[in-house]
Amino acid sequence: MVSGESAGGRVRTPLERAPVPELGTELIPKERYLSRDYAEEEHRRLWSRVWHLAGFERDILESGDYLTYEIGRESILVVRQASGGVAAFHNVCQHRGTRLVEPGRGSARSFTCQFHAWRYGIDGALERALDPETFSQGCPAESLGLTPVLADCWGGFVWVNLDPAADPLRRYLDVIPEHLDPYHFEEMSILNEYTIEIECNWKTSMDAFHEAYHILGTHPDTLDVNDDVNVPIDCYRRHSRMLLKLGVASPRHAEYGKVSKRIREHFLATAGIDPESFEGEASEVRPAIARAVREIQGPALGADFSELDDAQLVDDFHYSVFPNLTFNIFGRSAWLFRHRPHPTDPDRMYFDFFNLLRAPKARIARPEREFHVATDELLLEPVGGGGELLAQDTYNLPRIQRGMHSAGFRGLHLGNQEIRIRHFHATLNEYIPPERT
Ligand code: FES
Ligand SMILES: [Fe+2]
Repeated sequence: MVSGESAGGRVRTPLERAPVPELGTELIPKERYLSRDYAEEEHRRLWSRVWHLAGFERDILESGDYLTYEIGRESILVVRQASGGVAAFHNVCQHRGTRLVEPGRGSARSFTCQFHAWRYGIDGALERALDPETFSQGCPAESLGLTPVLADCWGGFVWVNLDPAADPLRRYLDVIPEHLDPYHFEEMSILNEYTIEIECNWKTSMDAFHEAYHILGTHPDTLDVNDDVNVPIDCYRRHSRMLLKLGVASPRHAEYGKVSKRIREHFLATAGIDPESFEGEASEVRPAIARAVREIQGPALGADFSELDDAQLVDDFHYSVFPNLTFNIFGRSAWLFRHRPHPTDPDRMYFDFFNLLRAPKARIARPEREFHVATDELLLEPVGGGGELLAQDTYNLPRIQRGMHSAGFRGLHLGNQEIRIRHFHATLNEYIPPERT
């Protein structure tokens, strides 16, 4: 059987281990988190060349529907075309450089610049320049259209690339479609969307979600419901994953091997199993949850989970897509985090959080994005139980960033449980060779 296929020919997420890459043991230089020069190199050499998840296809279904994506100093305008395709442009008027469309989503027949009223079609063509006869050089529509940006779709997401010569999206995504197609992200609705401004570098945030090693220190209250010790990790070409078992207590926890109170009350109950009448052993919890998700949740949500393995319906399959996406995927639901840099300040970032549910039958209204500034009191509810976890992580992030500035800190000393961070930095080095910085 070919990897990624089931006996029935349906695509399945490969579960076998990838080879462990040889990535050395050196310190990761701290300067790349702190220096303005490195942040500038990222804008020049990284953000300008990678594929970005700009938004959700479901937000631009009709001709003229648009969304914007802000990355560094760039704003990208993504528009559904009359042909049904998706096009993207730099969101800037070609007359004097005014930002054409305010950040957000909407629907338009054309885009008119608020400064001198030049008008562009949804295909980016210049439709009208006011008083064109007063321009001695002319206003040729051929050269004054919006500057195009590559756009493509996968997984119900719209992706853009600022490099006109970029590799196609599918080649860039590598194993990701094969691994994640069975989850059907295109059927997922957005239950919550937050953007949180945090006083840390965007990579400080990526790192924090690239390992389970921090669970004991940062989320000790979760050790009765997840196994933070036996965590398979796979590194691919650019992207990586770790598989975090849920519905079992950690070997570090007193209730290891038992059905803890919270497994009973949270995991069993939310899967639709009566926690009082469940008499199984600890080893029977996860199969029981998987069965309930298939047989009870699936029909209720209108979702067919037959392409997913039992573990995928219970555990946290955690994927990262280089450079700035992390997915916690729970089968019927998922959290997507997008880690965006601040345009000029390496000590700041924007953390976009999307809480997703696969409920194709339900009519779930698209919420407006909420904006927060991370503080010690940040508590984000309701996020499907994840608000407290996220608050714990975002509490750490500014403290890590401030600590890295200390002359007493030499660089990141990483263990094997943190190999995804090392792998991430090795990939980053391909875009920004270390000798340049
Ligand atoms: S800057 Fe846009 S019309 Fe003048
Ligand atoms: Fe965390």
